[in-house]
Amino acid sequence: MEEGHAIFDRPAPGAVTADAGFAQAGGLCQAGGVDVGILGGTGPAGLGLAARLAAGGLAVVVGSRDEERATAAVAELRARWPDRALAARAGTNAVAAEAALVVVATPWDAAEQTVVGLADALAGKVVVSMANALVGVGREIQAVVPARGSVAAGIAAALPRSRVAAAFHHLPAKELAALDAEMEGDVLVCADEPAARLATAALVARMPRLRALDAGSLAAAAPVESFTAVLLGLNRRYRTRAALTVTGIPGAGMAEVLEKEGGPAGASGRCA
Ligand SMILES: NC(=O)c1ccc[n+]([C@@H]2O[C@H](COP(=O)([O-])OP(=O)(O)OC[C@H]3O[C@@H](n4cnc5c(N)ncnc54)[C@H](OP(=O)(O)O)[C@@H]3O)[C@@H](O)[C@H]2O)c1
Repeated sequence: MEEGHAIFDRPAPGAVTADAGFAQAGGLCQAGGVDVGILGGTGPAGLGLAARLAAGGLAVVVGSRDEERATAAVAELRARWPDRALAARAGTNAVAAEAALVVVATPWDAAEQTVVGLADALAGKVVVSMANALVGVGREIQAVVPARGSVAAGIAAALPRSRVAAAFHHLPAKELAALDAEMEGDVLVCADEPAARLATAALVARMPRLRALDAGSLAAAAPVESFTAVLLGLNRRYRTRAALTVTGIPGAGMAEVLEKEGGPAGASGRCA
């Protein structure tokens, strides 16, 4: 763990403290923030998110089943952005799971088996799933329904001592990784516990111009995940990379709650 980034006391395995998520939200908005681990961080989605979060000032651990692959992925990141002091380092998934907040970026059908072996390390922490259950059918990408209704619900069942949230499903990997352009759009955040929602919103707040919206409980992850298939179909038909923007909701979305309850998000409702 890089010193100076884990700024709150990590709860002991199994101990879900009442305010850990709020502490994380506050910590994520403070200079240096808390560290974030990404399981399956060598893929385009995880590595893209790692790049964005590191560009937003967080310390990120890019996790993999194979440390050498993670090392190569981090080297690729550094080579692409040599002038940015990205605080990204490589590790196994077990090392990434030691981070204060952990994102699951594996293929959907590998998510549960990946987290279940890390349950002790993930206990008491916010775990954010960005996985979408999709399959290719002919030229189309279609959504499939996992056993528990969503990938996030499966992860939550596998991690009863963690606080699971779902987010980032609709952010295209290529744009995430393109740090020379800001991303625009809304990030739908689902979680059963307000603290998990808030900590996830604080991650979003690290990415300028992306707005976190409270999409409800983890039950809402099912339609959020499967809607990705619709976006990918739009991309193919219109030869673009569609992003999600919800109209009719003025303001900064969850960043306003973050500012009120979670910590110093700044007057804009964004992390400074
Ligand atoms: N691509 C996008 O634009 C995008 C956007 C938003 C969300 N997502 C979602 O984010 C997740 C990752 O997407 P991706 O495109 O980056 O996927 P990916 O490249 O297929 O997989 C990501 C990483 O997961 C690990 N992995 C692969 N198979 C595994 C297995 N059987 N068990 C454990 N780990 C395994 C691999 O890392 P190691 O081999 O190094 O362990 C791989 O690099 C997916 O669930 C996807 O639906 C993707």
